[in-house]
Amino acid sequence: MNRLAGKRALITGGTSGIGLATAQRFIAEGADVLVTGVTPASIDKARQILGDTVPVVQADARDLDAQRGLAKQVREHFGELDVAFLNAGVSDWRSFEDHTEDSYDRLFDINVKSIFFLTQALVPVLANPSSVVLNASASVHGGYGQANAYAATKAALSSLMRSWNADLLKSHGIRFNAVSPGPVDTPLYAKLGIEDPAIQAAVLESISSGIPLGRMGMPEEVAEAVVYLASDASAFAVGQDLILDGGQTVL
Ligand SMILES: NC(=O)c1ccc[n+]([C@@H]2O[C@H](COP(=O)([O-])OP(=O)(O)OC[C@H]3O[C@@H](n4cnc5c(N)ncnc54)[C@H](OP(=O)(O)O)[C@@H]3O)[C@@H](O)[C@H]2O)c1
Repeated sequence: MNRLAGKRALITGGTSGIGLATAQRFIAEGADVLVTGVTPASIDKARQILGDTVPVVQADARDLDAQRGLAKQVREHFGELDVAFLNAGVSDWRSFEDHTEDSYDRLFDINVKSIFFLTQALVPVLANPSSVVLNASASVHGGYGQANAYAATKAALSSLMRSWNADLLKSHGIRFNAVSPGPVDTPLYAKLGIEDPAIQAAVLESISSGIPLGRMGMPEEVAEAVVYLASDASAFAVGQDLILDGGQTVL
């Protein structure tokens, strides 16, 4: 299919998991893609998977100059941008009592502050019309133990997504929507700091058993939703938060 033919797209965090699957889907749908990542090994791997024609740019979300520099690189590479999937993010599961100022700042810097200022820098680069999709989380829509600060970062994105439509839809033709995945099987779960593989497997098992569909989501399933929100097929969708969670928030 060619649902994104001619679209120029930025995918942050396109080196792993949901972002990488979305980059692959976008390319298959005819888009020209530029992706970002931060970890050198992950960047190298993404380059091998995505091929020579796809720029894979290192842009640390904690470095606002790097985010502004990224908007410049996007301008130089594409001229204008039709689609941005602002997906780069980290999770940190820990009890409310265990959070520190550093763990809180890391989550909010990467998951919120970087996206706030990257979006600001992208506004002059985004075409009219264009589509921006934020990666929020189903944890915004319920109360989940260990999710507290992480869920709050994603709730901030959900709120910004609505405000930015009010600011930028009429004036700039940019529409903002979000996907809110429930648990999706990606390398994110290996980055939670659980060293013992048996405990990690038990955590994943307990997550899966809490999902009415009986399994975690796959990154490709989120990618499909992002393709829809990025494409002209969703031109009338504005300010929507598409929950993909195997029924967890409604059942
Ligand atoms: N997996 C889930 O269950 C789930 C559920 C709901 C929402 N989400 C959200 O989906 C998004 C992608 O997560 P994922 O599951 O695909 O995880 P992942 O496989 O760990 O991918 C995370 C991506 O974000 C990038 N990233 C992390 N820290 C960064 C930083 N400081 N600066 C720039 N890029 C950074 C990573 O780059 P490198 O690879 O270069 O390190 C990677 O490309 C996140 O926003 C996450 O919160 C995930």
